[in-house]
Amino acid sequence: MLQVLGIETSCDDTGIALYNEERGLLAHKVHIQIDNHAPFGGVVPELASRDHVRRMIPLLDEVLRESGVSLHELSAIAYTKGPGLHGSLLVGAAFAKALSYACSIPSIGINHLEGHLLSSMLENKDISFPFLGLVVSGGHSMLVRVEKFGCYHVLGDCVDDAAGEAFDKIAKLLGLSYPGGKHLEELAKKGDPKRFKFPRPLTERVSLDFSFSGLKTSAIKTFRDNEPVDPQTKADIACALQAAIIDTVYKKCKWALETNKLHTLIVTGGVSANHALRDKLNTLHQEHITVFFPSPEFCTDNGAMIAYAGLLHLKHQQIDRDLAINVNARLKLKEKEGEL
Ligand code: KG4
Ligand code: ZN
Repeated sequence: MLQVLGIETSCDDTGIALYNEERGLLAHKVHIQIDNHAPFGGVVPELASRDHVRRMIPLLDEVLRESGVSLHELSAIAYTKGPGLHGSLLVGAAFAKALSYACSIPSIGINHLEGHLLSSMLENKDISFPFLGLVVSGGHSMLVRVEKFGCYHVLGDCVDDAAGEAFDKIAKLLGLSYPGGKHLEELAKKGDPKRFKFPRPLTERVSLDFSFSGLKTSAIKTFRDNEPVDPQTKADIACALQAAIIDTVYKKCKWALETNKLHTLIVTGGVSANHALRDKLNTLHQEHITVFFPSPEFCTDNGAMIAYAGLLHLKHQQIDRDLAINVNARLKLKEKEGEL
């Protein structure tokens, strides 16, 4: 019976989890570093890696205690090898490699995006391939045709700012605390949806790529044109920004589903916590599309998705060949992920 430890340290969340082939997820813990970064209005990479170092052993102890599994019962250690912050990735990879050496078991480098794409399967084994995967987070906005495990076709990627980045930057401008996505969503509820209309980037023709930097510029310009900005205007800007992002994401999902003749959409990444986005994407049910959102704890960065992806790689004998610590901050999702 295989059981794989998963370690996620791509950005500012430290995640450790244990996944058992037969019993499923035995334990998963995430330490969220928001308090360390909030005073700076964004993630400070050096602070992030230092905190991963501090959290790693206590989290591992908790996971082992909760699952009742000891280190020598592990089959492999999976870790995130990229994309992400270089220093943060190095901490997780070095920890995984050291542990795998000490336990004489394989280590497995996992692409963070593959983890997100497979995260829905932690809770729903009935999801059938192929499906459309939408990853919307602080660092990513992408659409992927998931043919089967290990076979990914990137249909659209973000050419500049990711959706979460646009939420966070405009939230900061509006004086909301970091990370601003969920605060902006709250503020948007008080906004007048008719007052401002921002562009829907890359939707004038069928394109599955995302670009949110122009939209961000429109929001900044509207803010400057209305200075000093009163609370209602802030809410109206938040409302218009959220509507533009949601509309854009919705259109692209619809196009991708249609042109690829897909009937299942899996949405993951921190921005998928946005209720207005969920409501809009759920309207695709009317077009006989099954839309699935993993639970919030599996949408945001977590070790469980890395442990699960690690188990699948282990079953396919896709393991690291040596102890070299190879991480890649700009790692791309390959068509045939895991092929060595
Ligand atoms: O996946 P995640 O936890 O971390 C990575 O970026 O990898 O996503 C965090 C992002 C942040 O940009 C945050 O503002 C955004 O998800 N977010 C939201 C909401 N909750 C989190 N954006 C819009 N509406 C929300 N409710
Ligand atoms: Zn992520």
